[in-house]
Amino acid sequence: MPDTSNLSRFSDTSVLCRGERFEVYIDQDGIRRRVAEIGEEISLRYAGRNPVLIGVLHGACMFLADLLRVLTIDCEVDFRRLSSYEGGTTSSGRIVEREGVARIDLSGRHVIVVEDIVDTGLTMAYLTERIKEQGPASLRIATLLHKPEAARVHVPIDYVGFRAPNRFLIGYGMDYEQTGRHLPEIYIRAEE
Ligand code: IMP
Repeated sequence: MPDTSNLSRFSDTSVLCRGERFEVYIDQDGIRRRVAEIGEEISLRYAGRNPVLIGVLHGACMFLADLLRVLTIDCEVDFRRLSSYEGGTTSSGRIVEREGVARIDLSGRHVIVVEDIVDTGLTMAYLTERIKEQGPASLRIATLLHKPEAARVHVPIDYVGFRAPNRFLIGYGMDYEQTGRHLPEIYIRAEE
């Protein structure tokens, strides 16, 4: 039997994750509608350009999968694996690119980075600099969530699903030390 003790239901609208309470912040329907809108915008703008969508692992897994399903244009998909949290609920500020995924040559390509959440902005600043070195035809960022109050560097973001306060979120791909990623809603840590 898998150990599920890190996550349990607290009420209809909240869960206990690693002993802390998180409340539903955006439900499945809200996420679905916003992802459909972003998909429509991207489909219009990139028609005939065969963009490369780069998912940032692991957090963007659900957003990327759902976004792909609503795109009506031809596109390619690649992944990058970066981390800055090293466990816990605050950024270490040090971005580490992890090994292990195949890469599409991005020179001359229209690239869209797909991220779950932009917090300090350090991950996106790092990744977009690395991608620019490869000479893409264009580069844009799509993030499901953005915490503007947490920004430590400015990164222009082209598609934002939702703005969030500077509080920790889980669900829909986002984890708390690997727990809570599978939740289909987005949850926010309850205030004391
Ligand atoms: P940044 O470099 O500080 O912008 O952080 C970006 C990464 O930190 C995201 O891709 C997430 O993996 C992680 N992260 C930031 N905020 C949260 C959160 O509230 N919950 C879960 N992960 C987060």
